[in-house]
Amino acid sequence: MHLHKYEKYWLVFGVATLVVFLIILGIGAFHQGSHPNNGKKTLDYEKVNEFPPFDNPGVHKVEGKDWDYEVVVLASAFNYNPPEIEVPLGAKVKFIATSADVMHGFEIAGTNINMMLEPGYISEYVTEVNKLGEFLIVCNEYCGTGHTMMHSMLKVVD
Ligand code: CUA
Repeated sequence: MHLHKYEKYWLVFGVATLVVFLIILGIGAFHQGSHPNNGKKTLDYEKVNEFPPFDNPGVHKVEGKDWDYEVVVLASAFNYNPPEIEVPLGAKVKFIATSADVMHGFEIAGTNINMMLEPGYISEYVTEVNKLGEFLIVCNEYCGTGHTMMHSMLKVVD
């Protein structure tokens, strides 16, 4: 195949543009400064279940902190660990959550709690639970075939 001289230039230009574009994309995707979450970087997300606090998901009573309970949540396709959260009415709770695989959501219906859970980042939210009842926790980030089945429950008990 014979390429005209100018066609060759355009081909090189096209490839160079593509390379530059991919580099910019790469920087954009991995540069922490542009991260939408103010979450902290965690350890390797694929091994996050081996490291505290995610080696022990669940509801933990704590002492000497500004909150009474820490709720550690590890999301993965397509469930939450723990599958159910129970806290007493009036408790000050810190939710600490992350994902072990892809991006998930953590939205507690009927409350203002709505976090994005990204692999490699810890999402935290401190709140006082001042409403009795059962609140559905749903994943609001599309995460795959089981996305619509991914949910959990927050029970606020007396
Ligand atoms: Cu997890 Cu959608």
